Amino acid sequence: MAESKLRSLFNDPEHYVKAFQVFASLSAKYKVLANWGDNNFSNEVVKQLPFKLKENEELRVLGVGSGSGEVESKMLAMLLQKYPRITNRVVEPAVDQIVQYKALVQSKGRELQGVNFDWRQQTLDQHREAATDGAKFHFINAVHSMYYAEDVDSSLMYLYDLLEPGGKLLIITISDDSGTWRLWNHFTGYQDHLVHFISSADVRSSFDRRNIPYTQSHQKSRVEITKCLDETSVEGNLLVDFLLHVVKFKETASDAQYKEVMEYMLSGDCSEKDGDEVLFINDWDAVIIEKRVP
Ligand SMILES: C[S@@+](CC[C@H](N)C(=O)[O-])C[C@H]1O[C@@H](n2cnc3c(N)ncnc32)[C@H](O)[C@@H]1O
Repeated sequence: MAESKLRSLFNDPEHYVKAFQVFASLSAKYKVLANWGDNNFSNEVVKQLPFKLKENEELRVLGVGSGSGEVESKMLAMLLQKYPRITNRVVEPAVDQIVQYKALVQSKGRELQGVNFDWRQQTLDQHREAATDGAKFHFINAVHSMYYAEDVDSSLMYLYDLLEPGGKLLIITISDDSGTWRLWNHFTGYQDHLVHFISSADVRSSFDRRNIPYTQSHQKSRVEITKCLDETSVEGNLLVDFLLHVVKFKETASDAQYKEVMEYMLSGDCSEKDGDEVLFINDWDAVIIEKRVP
């Protein structure tokens, strides 16, 4: 599929947000993440944080690519049960997402009382260049945002470096046995922007190479993509755009490209059938790295 370069979703933040919202609603994304949060986040992160903070001391949290905050705000609410004062630095380049996150915080009212937000409208790389305050963090999360770092390995090491000894880094990415990963790998290099289509295998290998220990939990996740079968469906086309990370794929791809991608997306490599529904295999992994106390 090397005939033309298609416009990457990265070049159109507005379209990105529209496509992401359709994806999030059809993948029950927040429900799966909420379940993971209830069952794993509490045991594997909150209970394991070793810090005994003084009464006026705050837990320092860093969110990377926090989006509109649905996932992160749940984590903060759980952390508040153990640490009643938190400073949360939000590194998020999309202004619309920050606006939505701020509105969410407002709507949560007392639930997030005790959290002081430090908003940074930046990419992770811009933050790396600009942040000279030497701040270290007790907990850092990057939930489905490491795909967008310029240099993934170096960014992971930067985040590790920002941890306080004893702190935890949570990286959630798609799993290496997901349909998403197979789709990305099947059609590489056709976008006009270099995206690092990484999976959890890349995250693990960065830490393996340096003998830095981590734990991993695997989550089954399915996205209902039946609407993608209808070429006239606005939602279906936005969903295809998000899965491929291409702007208006149906309108800009050649007929041959469109047919090839759709056939592969609907094949057993990427999807499953459940009655009349087509479910895209979107499994993901949570890798949790702890910075050992020297
Ligand atoms: C798939 S969304 C995930 C949002 C949120 N973490 C969640 O799980 O709901 C990816 C987010 O990463 C942000 N992002 C894109 N490029 C980034 C970069 N270079 N550094 C940090 N965040 C980035 C996007 O704006 C978007 O909000």
